[in-house]
Amino acid sequence: MGKQSIKAVIPAAGLGTRFLPATKAMPKEMLPVVDKPAIQYVVEEAASAGIDDILVIIGRNKNMISNHFDSVPELEVKLTEKGDMQRLERVMKSSDLADIHYLRQGEPKGLGHAVLRAKTHVGDSSFVVMLGDDLIDDRDELITTMMAEHERTGATVVALMEVDPSQIHMYGAAAVEATDQDGIVRVTGLVEKPAQEDAPSNLAIIGRYVLPPAVFPILERTEPGKGGEIQLTDALQELAADSDGPGVVGVIFRGRRYDTGDRVDYIKAIVQLATDRDDLGADLRPWLKEFSAGL
Ligand code: G1P
Repeated sequence: MGKQSIKAVIPAAGLGTRFLPATKAMPKEMLPVVDKPAIQYVVEEAASAGIDDILVIIGRNKNMISNHFDSVPELEVKLTEKGDMQRLERVMKSSDLADIHYLRQGEPKGLGHAVLRAKTHVGDSSFVVMLGDDLIDDRDELITTMMAEHERTGATVVALMEVDPSQIHMYGAAAVEATDQDGIVRVTGLVEKPAQEDAPSNLAIIGRYVLPPAVFPILERTEPGKGGEIQLTDALQELAADSDGPGVVGVIFRGRRYDTGDRVDYIKAIVQLATDRDDLGADLRPWLKEFSAGL
């Protein structure tokens, strides 16, 4: 499997209920994080890992996503006439990142179902799944480490991150064993959104996966699980339990991750990313200090 030929799948067909009414007519993946929609960060992350074929699984009202990654000639002409080359470059970048394909999910029956929709596009190859709720800082390495680990072992690879035990009920949780490599664990079990007292660890699945095509027949027979949805975690549990296969490994991520999945985390992500930016940080940081001193 060459790094260049691997495809990425971005499921973006959720209903975005936590952000209603903002997401009534607009997908949550298009919510701006500073000045780019969340999904563009994920597409940029894929592109910088050398992935040039991306399938976005879209839902109802999702044409905005394909419009965003398309070029807008009249805007480009306007910006050229104004000589605003910096903005022109930023606008053009979003339509030049990768070869992006779109497929409708139909009924939203869960993450596992969305991933199964990618079967024809992906074919008989391993592929990457990237969730738009999790943004990984572009200064930190994750997906390339995961792809290398898959290439080396053939295993399914999930990204894991330590979370506060009180938060584990919001994630897929992993039971793990150490390996002789720092930051790489063998995953012996996975459970979707367990209660804190039932969780096998405080290692949460964050939204990056390298999956083998063997996941498709499993997803086809995976029954609805937590929340009545077909869960990707349940299919991965089957791969972890298969002692004849290459199993599941976890890459422990210790870098910067921004969660845009709920409102408070989304606001934090914007503040963190903006304060770090060369063009915005200098204005924002002193104001933030003053503001927080008055809280
Ligand atoms: C999904 C997965 C969950 C994972 C999470 C990461 O849940 O089902 O296992 O931990 O993404 O963001 P969701 O947040 O879509 O409910």
